[in-house]
Amino acid sequence: MYNKGMEQDLLKIKNDASSLIIAAEDERELNQIKLDFLGKSGKLSHLVKGIKDVPEDRRPEIGKLANEILSSVEELLDRRFTEFSGKKKEILKKMVFDISRPGIKIEIGHLHPVSQVIYDVVEVFKSLGYQAADGPEIETDYYNFEALNIPRDHPARDTQQTLYLDTRKSHVTPGEIILRTQTSSMQGRVMEKIKPPIRVIVPGKNFRYEQVDASHGFEFWQVEGFLVDTNVRLTDLFGTIDYVLRKLMGEKIKIKFATTNFPFVEPGVDTYIECAVCHGKGCSFCNNSGWSEIMPAGMIHPNVLKAVGYDSQKVSGFAFAIGLSRLVTLRYQMDDLRLLTNPDLRILEQF
Ligand code: DAH
Repeated sequence: MYNKGMEQDLLKIKNDASSLIIAAEDERELNQIKLDFLGKSGKLSHLVKGIKDVPEDRRPEIGKLANEILSSVEELLDRRFTEFSGKKKEILKKMVFDISRPGIKIEIGHLHPVSQVIYDVVEVFKSLGYQAADGPEIETDYYNFEALNIPRDHPARDTQQTLYLDTRKSHVTPGEIILRTQTSSMQGRVMEKIKPPIRVIVPGKNFRYEQVDASHGFEFWQVEGFLVDTNVRLTDLFGTIDYVLRKLMGEKIKIKFATTNFPFVEPGVDTYIECAVCHGKGCSFCNNSGWSEIMPAGMIHPNVLKAVGYDSQKVSGFAFAIGLSRLVTLRYQMDDLRLLTNPDLRILEQF
């Protein structure tokens, strides 16, 4: 049907199309406008189709106007398309690639300092023929104490503030199940299963009911180690400790030994290294002594060997424990053990 207002309609569409084309910000938008107005069912195409219904006397005039509008819209579109492609070329021309510029740094995670040190410790002992074992953190009183020559009521139990599991609702005798206080608990478990010669280390977490401060935690890492063979002597133990600590802390570190007492070793040996935080001057970390206790050890007590069925007349051995949390803080010169259990990435990213 001929619409009397066709002239107005054509002019309105021209204005609409032109202002949209001028405001378009990229080629994608221009393409959309082209489709909306000039596409098969576009607004302008639709009007042009209606020209056949215009009365003959007015048809040439309206047809001419429609043609003019069509070509002006197409022309404007073309102009803007060329503008955009010119801009693209210009931008590309300006883009110079500087291959010497450092790339974007991608942050990648890394092992926790405790894990890093455990891996190092395991590597050093592996080179000495040791195997690494893993054992339960929830332990029986037997392996944690009895098998280690610490019977009930032994005063040495007082030094290991023990956390007991509440077993009242089970058939387990109260006091039998604990959180292990020392990885030495694995001595009995391993020796019961394997005959000498053995060389084993056990990295693991221990738990004690302790007042938490800069150098004590209620959970701490230790690497227990033990070796049983024929003719094992105290000097073998000294040599092993000396070798291992120098590998871990550097050849130049100062080491000293002292006697000590643990019920499962005889004699007992305490190993100190010069405090890495104050370099021997004395600080809060080493209780102003200049030395840090790092590796208690000793020759395995015959009672321990007997408890696992070894013949203490034929074989002997030594045992030691590396205070791993302490080793980590000394190596990275942290003055507070609590940093090791702090999940703040700003701290952990530094190691
Ligand atoms: N398990 C002891 C503790 O945590 C440390 C220890 C001392 C382990 C002497 C040993 C050793 O193997 O021989 O207090």
